[in-house]
Amino acid sequence: MPKVTFLPANVTVEFEHGELPYKEHGKPESLLDIALNAGVQLEHACGGNCACTTCHVIVKQGDGNLSEMDDDEADRLDMAAGLTLHSRLGCQCVVQGDVVVEIPDWNRNYVSEGGGSINLGEAIPAGRR
Ligand code: FES
Repeated sequence: MPKVTFLPANVTVEFEHGELPYKEHGKPESLLDIALNAGVQLEHACGGNCACTTCHVIVKQGDGNLSEMDDDEADRLDMAAGLTLHSRLGCQCVVQGDVVVEIPDWNRNYVSEGGGSINLGEAIPAGRR
C-alpha cells in the first residue's frame, strides 16, 4: 500500500490503489487527490487542471514513485515560485509508491490541526447537494 507523508504537518496517509474516493480535483490518486482525502490543505486554485502553480510541492523522498512529469506539468512548473529540482505539481503527479512531500509555506494557509480532519470545499456529501 503506497504511503504518502505530507510535511510539515507530518500527516501520513496510506491507501490502496483503486480504493481512494476521487475528490474531483487533479488526476485520480495524485498528491492533490490524496491530500484532499486526508484533510490536508493543498491549494489548487485552478481545480487541478495544470493551469496554476498553487499545488506546488517539493518531493523529499520517493521521486521515482511518482508518475513521470509530462510537458504540460514541466511548462507550468517553470512558472512556480521557489522551484527546486524536486518540485512537482501536486495535481499532476500520480502516486505509485511511498513518497514524502513538503508543502512550501507560501502555498500553505494551514494544514490539518490537532489531528482533526479538515477538508475545505469538498465536504458536502453527494447526497446533500
Ligand atoms: S491545482 Fe492548479 S496546477 Fe495543480
